[in-house]
Amino acid sequence: MKVATIRSLVCLGIESTADNLGVGIATSNGAILANEISTHVPEEGGIHPREAARHHAEQMGSTIGEALQDARVKAEELDLIAFSQGPGLGPSLRTGATAARALASYLNVPLVGVNHCVAHIEIGRLATGAEDPLTLYVSGGNTIVTGYEAGRYRIFGETLDIAVGNCLDTFSREAGLPYPGGPAVEKHALEGERLILLPYVVKGMDLSFSGLLTALIQEYRTGRWRLEDLCFSLQEIAYSMLGEVTERALAHTKKAELLLTGGVAANKRLRSIIGAIAEEHGASPEFVPIGYATDNGAMIAWTGILAYQSGIETPIETSYIDSRWRLDRVEVLWRD
Ligand code: ATP
Ligand code: FE2
Repeated sequence: MKVATIRSLVCLGIESTADNLGVGIATSNGAILANEISTHVPEEGGIHPREAARHHAEQMGSTIGEALQDARVKAEELDLIAFSQGPGLGPSLRTGATAARALASYLNVPLVGVNHCVAHIEIGRLATGAEDPLTLYVSGGNTIVTGYEAGRYRIFGETLDIAVGNCLDTFSREAGLPYPGGPAVEKHALEGERLILLPYVVKGMDLSFSGLLTALIQEYRTGRWRLEDLCFSLQEIAYSMLGEVTERALAHTKKAELLLTGGVAANKRLRSIIGAIAEEHGASPEFVPIGYATDNGAMIAWTGILAYQSGIETPIETSYIDSRWRLDRVEVLWRD
């Protein structure tokens, strides 16, 4: 954690797109002063949007309090409040937005609605020092290959159905592994060695994981395979698909940096594939540190500062959440 030395803007950011409630505090000179995360773990099944929202509402006060305490900042010293405005689950987003509006109006400071996908990229740039990377953003809800061009983060490739993290989480739930699935699949895959034939679906620059997931569950239910080999095959096939599309986008854009961000960026096997691709193309591989890979409030606070400094503010009256807010619709006024 860096410490701000000169008086700079201080922003509190609230992240609440899915099962994590995050409250982070960032300054305009790029210091992250706090990054508190409270995770809702479903009792069974996947995320229940209303249960997650209830968790966030219950934890909001204490999580904000802890972030302020970590940062040694008083609420009155905040210059700006940022919140994740979309994309994500409606009930969770609304809970974060309501808290952000209340805080901004009570403190009489500006409010900035942040696109969650942009925030994953911006925290990756801040934490790694990458300036203009081609980015593979992989999480439970998104699978996107993107790069900055002419004022926006353009989408070069994306999933046509479920996200890669969702595929990992759904399979692991079926196989009785703990939630979230990514780390559990990664652990079992280390003991796997046999590659089971599963659908590898890349269509042009886009990907599909639903056929792979269905086939994997069918194979699991036959009882013929070791769980370790199923996990190994899932990782090898899904991450090779990601590698193929990423490599093509890197060759096309000729970017000098390749950034891996989002929750699945924590995966060592995916990191090694991305690292090898970067090396082959003379690009520098950049990995978002684990604490900033999964959903967090610091990325929202930092992106809020970037947006605010380029003249963006979100009036409370029009601060509706947008659960389908696409990455490439955001005008990225702080670049160039
Ligand atoms: P988004 O709203 O950006 O889609 P999200 O709600 O899915 O985000 P993230 O915290 O960005 O949240 O990502 C969570 C995903 O990351 C889960 O699918 C989880 O299984 C996956 N994940 C976490 N650690 C690992 C790992 N080591 N290997 C693979 N996947 C991982
Ligand atoms: Fe996320």
